Amino acid sequence: MDDFLKLQDLYSSQLIALIDLGLELKNKLKNKISHEYLKNKVMGMIFTKSSTRTRVAFETGMIQLGGNAIFLSSQDIQLGRGESIADTARVLDRYLDLIMIRTFKQSDVEDLAKFASIPVINGLTDYCHPSQVVADLMTFKEYKGNLNGKKLCYIGDGNNVANSLIVGCIKCGVAISLACPENYQPDPILIAWAKHTGNIEITDNVKVAARNADALYTDVWASMGQESESETRKKIFKDYQINNDVLKYANKDAIVLHCLPAHKGEEIAEDTFEAHAKEIFDEAENRLHAHKAIMTALFVDGFGIN
Ligand code: CP
Ligand code: NVA
Repeated sequence: MDDFLKLQDLYSSQLIALIDLGLELKNKLKNKISHEYLKNKVMGMIFTKSSTRTRVAFETGMIQLGGNAIFLSSQDIQLGRGESIADTARVLDRYLDLIMIRTFKQSDVEDLAKFASIPVINGLTDYCHPSQVVADLMTFKEYKGNLNGKKLCYIGDGNNVANSLIVGCIKCGVAISLACPENYQPDPILIAWAKHTGNIEITDNVKVAARNADALYTDVWASMGQESESETRKKIFKDYQINNDVLKYANKDAIVLHCLPAHKGEEIAEDTFEAHAKEIFDEAENRLHAHKAIMTALFVDGFGIN
């Protein structure tokens, strides 16, 4: 694999290897064991949307791996003034070893990868958020010991995070249930693939979805770029909240995950968030380790992704 653009591009074995590599790198960092696998490599990070976790985790991760990272806000580079993705790719290709991009259109990420010979990593698009889900599954595995046969329930908007969760869960043998309002369901192509490949349930009933879940997961009701829909979405999504009532339907030791940032009182009740803050912030921490695994695996043979 030359790039990390969406989880569909990975074999199950590659995704599982990435999760395990994330756990191994986390252990190395905690035990101060050197792991400078990307010494002197330079990564450019293009952001056309905001970020706290993705930016800091990729940048810190690259430094810990012995390389350097350059933050490229779209406002500061010519991409923001209309230079094409193709030309941007062909220029950055001459300077950098690796590009990470967060933007709106998945096709822009795919085009960047097409025109650049160096690896490209997707740091979120409107369609998917694959680096997030490597960290999510890593966290799920840390808490539950293994993934195969477990159940994750996603409640809320069926967009980028939900799309990647479907693919990630199915590839790791995790059953996934999703409660999403009508017209806010995940990509139908992914649903069809998941139905054919693994265990997926789609409903508009939060309690039905939560039944026997080992993890409950949610994301904001209005994603980046949808700010103008925020008030309408509050009405449509009002019953799609993780709270203590919904938790009663899940397994009693179920964990709660949230990709963050959270809008407490909307997609998750504040008391539920705080009661499960340990899991949620472990998940945020795991972005660092998971991103290091992704970057390492793109360069170092023997980590299961190349
Ligand atoms: N979860 C996530 O991607 O967070 P950021 O938007 O802060 O990067
Ligand atoms: N669905 C959210 C995820 C943020 C990490 C968004 O796209 O804004």
